[in-house]
Amino acid sequence: MGSRILGWGTALPDKVVTNSDLEKTLDTSDEWIVERSGIRERRIGNSTAELAIAAGGKALRRAGVDPASIDLLILATTTPDQTVPATSARVQAELSLGGGAFDLNAACSGFVYGLVMADAMLDAGAKRILLIGAETLSRITDWGDRNTAVLFGDGGGALLLERVADEGQLLASDLGLDGSAREILKSEVGGTIEMDGREVFKRAVRAMVDSANRTLERAKVRADEIQLIVPHQANIRIIQAACDRLGIARDRAAVVLDRTGNTSSASIPLALVDAIDNGRLQDGDLVLLTGFGAGMTWGSALLRWQGSDTTDKTRDINAAKDGPQE
Ligand code: ACO
Repeated sequence: MGSRILGWGTALPDKVVTNSDLEKTLDTSDEWIVERSGIRERRIGNSTAELAIAAGGKALRRAGVDPASIDLLILATTTPDQTVPATSARVQAELSLGGGAFDLNAACSGFVYGLVMADAMLDAGAKRILLIGAETLSRITDWGDRNTAVLFGDGGGALLLERVADEGQLLASDLGLDGSAREILKSEVGGTIEMDGREVFKRAVRAMVDSANRTLERAKVRADEIQLIVPHQANIRIIQAACDRLGIARDRAAVVLDRTGNTSSASIPLALVDAIDNGRLQDGDLVLLTGFGAGMTWGSALLRWQGSDTTDKTRDINAAKDGPQE
């Protein structure tokens, strides 16, 4: 048994905050931010549930499946709207999903953790799973701290997965954590993000490259066979360094951070869907997702893309109606 991607969707808040906007309140410059991070603007606003509902609703409609047929919702987020209950409870109710739901916090690796978990649950008997990564990092950003305020944004992205009888699209994966590094990137309850940027940078490149290489080895795939790498969107220099060390051409990377900033769990689905929408994927292409985040966590997943018949809107008679927000 394996899993197949039936639908996808994303959501971004309407409000755009450019680097020039930040220049007005911080001792920084558009030039510094672009050169050191690659970020030009980010979106700010909404709640995590609103972004998750918008992205998840689009994935359901694209797949044409009845929301009641969903067995499980996994919401990857490091910025839940409240402590109790899980943010996934509101998402489940507003999307009229069947089955269970829970939040998953593995920081910026959360979406890859969720994908691997969804694949295992499908293998164990679930039929359909909605996987969403959604974040409102703006709520835990210190807007007076130039070291962090320029980096983060809000957004959401979703995939709808279904069980298939063959090996499915997820070919291999790798998940890991080095909890001894938990102090270099953190936010206390009610606090804001504190980070040792240089240390995170160094460890991020190493963690992504090692994890990606383990995944490729497990699948017996060479780096030069990868058509698209979808890395966590934290910093363009981290992405380029990882590509160079893996031996994957830089132009094979999906990049949206110039428009979104770092959206943690949402960044990999935002970049993947952007690549799909821009026609960068053909059936049979090998796609490597790889990320790192606070913890420090890391995760990689190798997919064989297969998207040609996923727009069958007649799949379920009670296919998802328009969601509450686009
Ligand atoms: N504008 C202008 N100057 C700045 C700014 C800014 N916004 N921020 C820092 N500086 C200054 C610093 O104070 C420093 O000055 P100093 O030399 O006088 O001390 C100088 O710029 C250089 O600072 P560095 O930290 O060396 O800059 P670096 O090139 O490493 O870039 C950055 C900093 C962008 C933070 C980089 O280290 C990075 O991206 N690190 C990874 C961060 C990351 O990925 N975090 C998210 C992880 S995922 C998650 O879980 C949310």
